[in-house]
Amino acid sequence: MDEINSLKLKFEGELKKINSLNQLLNLKIKYLGRQGLINQLTKKIKQIPLDQRKIFGQKINDLKKTIFQYLEKWEKNLSLKEKKEVFIDKTLPGKKYPKGSLHPLTYIIEEIVEIFEKIGFVRLSYPEVEWEYFAFEALNMPKGHPARDDFETFFIQAKENKKYGKMLLSPHTSSGQVREMLRVKSQPPIRMINIAKCYRPNWDATHTPMFHQFEGLCIDKNINISHLKGTINYFVKEFFGKEREIRLRPFHFQFTEPSFEIDVSCGVCQGKGVINQNNKCKVCKSGWLELAGAGMVHPNVLKAGGIDPKKYSGWAFGFGPERCLMMREEVKLDDIRILYENDIRFLEKF
Ligand code: DAH
Repeated sequence: MDEINSLKLKFEGELKKINSLNQLLNLKIKYLGRQGLINQLTKKIKQIPLDQRKIFGQKINDLKKTIFQYLEKWEKNLSLKEKKEVFIDKTLPGKKYPKGSLHPLTYIIEEIVEIFEKIGFVRLSYPEVEWEYFAFEALNMPKGHPARDDFETFFIQAKENKKYGKMLLSPHTSSGQVREMLRVKSQPPIRMINIAKCYRPNWDATHTPMFHQFEGLCIDKNINISHLKGTINYFVKEFFGKEREIRLRPFHFQFTEPSFEIDVSCGVCQGKGVINQNNKCKVCKSGWLELAGAGMVHPNVLKAGGIDPKKYSGWAFGFGPERCLMMREEVKLDDIRILYENDIRFLEKF
């Protein structure tokens, strides 16, 4: 009989230390399982004198019941407690994780590429670290030519190449023109778009030492200015909107003849140059915004690429994605350096 009492005390002591459902289950097995302490005690009934067996049996049964009740009660309490611990309030607003995004210029470049790919142009990239030859000589700007001054250049301290001259950071994507002609082994047709970083040693409100250019080159038989105009017109309508118009203004570039600058009608004043009758449009002042330089590829440039200018003709254009971004979003940036300052407040606007 004492054994029954001491088992009860032992159980009560152990129960107090339990603080999880898992521990409670183990305790249940320890006492009420098939090999459990209660069954072990029951087996001892044979050693009990006959006249006391009935009481012994009853006491064990009582203990079993008591243990059972204790366990049930604790199970309820513990499961309530554990539920509370993992309680999920579904009405709470979810956590918002900060979302990153691409740089606005990356978006613009992807869009430009898509527009040109639709009409059969292929995106290529040519070296940013370039030879003087491809940046100038091959583009009809021999050594000492004053036109080279328009392309202020970062030179690299490296060994000069006998044929190609000094090494530099390409000041424009036009350097890819002759490289492309050579890549196709001087066999047109060529429909290239070359978007790359360019470098010039300028740092002010309208210049960054690193910027982007976008070069289009189309060479084939019987290519003329109307193809150039048609292509730019298509691009402008796709990129800026159907209502925008273009105009070609005569200009001079050493690597194209004839050469033009291309303007796009302003999206703010619809090309009128004025807003509300008399107020000059602050964005364009004249109704037009300058977009790109372009022209018919100079015969000397075709020759540098091994292409016979009597058989083939072509056009080229070059413009800045940074400018396209500003012209489309109608953001008048007082200082374009903000594009490269990684100021999150600015970048998040796009
Ligand atoms: N490379 C010229 C620049 O950096 C832009 C340009 C003008 C590119 C006329 C051309 C072109 O392909 O035909 O200012």
